[in-house]
Amino acid sequence: MQIVSMKNMLHAAKKRQYAVGQFNVNSLEFAQAFLLAAKEESSPVILGITEAAVRHIGSFALVASIVRELIKAYEVTVPVALHLDHSSSFEACVKAIQAGFSSVMIDGSDLPLEKNIVLTQKVAAVAHALGVSVEAELGRITGEEDGIVVDESLGTFAAAKDCERFVLETQIDCLAPAIGSVHGLYKGEPRLQFDLLADIVRFTQAPCALHGGTGIPTHDIQKAIGLGITKINVNTENQMVYTAALRCALVGAANAHEVQKYTRQAVDAVRASVKQKMREFGSSQQA
Ligand code: 13P
Repeated sequence: MQIVSMKNMLHAAKKRQYAVGQFNVNSLEFAQAFLLAAKEESSPVILGITEAAVRHIGSFALVASIVRELIKAYEVTVPVALHLDHSSSFEACVKAIQAGFSSVMIDGSDLPLEKNIVLTQKVAAVAHALGVSVEAELGRITGEEDGIVVDESLGTFAAAKDCERFVLETQIDCLAPAIGSVHGLYKGEPRLQFDLLADIVRFTQAPCALHGGTGIPTHDIQKAIGLGITKINVNTENQMVYTAALRCALVGAANAHEVQKYTRQAVDAVRASVKQKMREFGSSQQA
């Protein structure tokens, strides 16, 4: 299976009422865990990567070839999208597309609506000409991801009418509306705006993404899917699972320098946790 765009994946999810997980690649080991989980669950999967994580690994081309080679080595046949998460610029989107990414998110959520539309249209023109899917954000999701912090005071919910215009004028394949979810850990219970989500889905008819998947209880996840969420992003939770497994394996270990042995245990922990998410999101056995 080649790396595919998110477009058909998300339309199938919308039709059959499940969500595809976007799991963030922080290092080679995370890509291993996600691809193995997807294969074992027979689930479509979106491998998301931020520009900071691309810099950490080396380059867009290196990320794309790692993912391509792992797909071959593991004989993965389920659909896999390679997606640039929260890109801030047209130039970064183009670099990702040139390297073989099948999907990009252009995040102009800090711009006024008109400017966000213009930037997103520019990315969509290039991406769509090459069969690459595009996600964009409206309203502002708060919290922290890969060192980028959006303070609570800057958070705004997406307005349903703006979403309708945004989707119509940009022709994006996936809308990430700010509906109260947060990147990173929640202070208290998450308070998702379900009525707003229902309006946004009704006005736009577009596949919608729920960012900040860490810490959202199963009943809220399922309610969101029922209302039209077709993509759910999870990052912090996987990093917590990975580091907790490493810490646990290293306590009292006689040969704590055996890197492969201990990282393998951490990969297995993330793989098990992601398989559970795929079942919770309903994407298992949908590939
Ligand atoms: P969490 O880190 O809160 O799971 O959010 C991930 C995310 O939304 C990636 O874009």
